[in-house]
Amino acid sequence: MQSQFRGKHFVTLRDWSKEQIDTLLDVSLQLKRDFALGTINNSLQNQTIFLMFFEQSTRTRNSMEAGITQLGGHAHFIDGSTTQVAHGESPKDTAVILSRFGHAIACRYCNWGYGNAFISEMAQHATVPVINLQCDLYHPLQAIADLMTMQEKFGQNLKRIKVSIIWAYAESHKKPISVPLSQVLLFPRYGMDVCLAHPKGWELPDWVIAEAKANAERYGGSVTVTDNEEEAYRDAHIVIPKNWGNWVNDQTGLQASGAVKVVDEKLMAQRSWKCTEEKIALGDRDVCYMHALPADRNNEVDNSVIDGPHSIVYDEAENRLHTSKAIMALTMGGRGRA
Ligand code: CP
Repeated sequence: MQSQFRGKHFVTLRDWSKEQIDTLLDVSLQLKRDFALGTINNSLQNQTIFLMFFEQSTRTRNSMEAGITQLGGHAHFIDGSTTQVAHGESPKDTAVILSRFGHAIACRYCNWGYGNAFISEMAQHATVPVINLQCDLYHPLQAIADLMTMQEKFGQNLKRIKVSIIWAYAESHKKPISVPLSQVLLFPRYGMDVCLAHPKGWELPDWVIAEAKANAERYGGSVTVTDNEEEAYRDAHIVIPKNWGNWVNDQTGLQASGAVKVVDEKLMAQRSWKCTEEKIALGDRDVCYMHALPADRNNEVDNSVIDGPHSIVYDEAENRLHTSKAIMALTMGGRGRA
């Protein structure tokens, strides 16, 4: 059990040891039980977290706002486009000032090539913990909630559970690569057999696959990358079919933005990458269907799957609350960084 978290940044789970992640999961479960029992936890009484969003959000914003309120503190929602960042104020100046006003800074900034750099620079200069609400590279809040949900469904020991992260067709907007990237790095640390499937042109960066494979070697799982969708679904215990943008051939800086809707011929050619009941039937009898949400219904997935007996998307979304509370409860609470 690790107990040294005060002031620690949560920008990527790559900076958190396995022992620290285990403690985070323990605390998440404890807070979930407290919430179910109506037990009051005011451990962050009178504390302020700034929630700065440069993109839209339903789950992340509201789990953080509800979460800090339930812990006795409060959140300031900041629309990033209305701040002086829009006029070029630096991440350093923003972080130093907000550090003097409150107890934590959280930020969502997904623009390719900018988001992680902005949040990391804030973390470098902040004197309070900085929490990544999703950037162009990482969505650690989603990955940790996914892991918690898997442990609830399959038990704490996830070794040799086959989880398939599968690209899916979507028209709603070009989704960042941060969700599959965070998942493919994290799940092998729990000894899972990870299958990453996508059409050619939707590759994740080479360093991600190399690090995921190194994690698998260290913790006793495996990582397979394929463009064969059937291979991914076959005998899977968990499938996560979800769209992500083709950052490889289109690094304009716009493609990964949450607000951009782009349907071109290259994308349209991959319409068949949709999660259907027939594909779910290839998996284990009790295969679980997961999705970070929002889902592009009828493009990424058939309604009969997302609303069907294999779907655990609402349990997954609920765990965003409990894990967000755990991260705030562990990292906030002081006025300075450890
Ligand atoms: N999964 C997720 O991050 O949802 P929001 O974009 O609604 O926050």
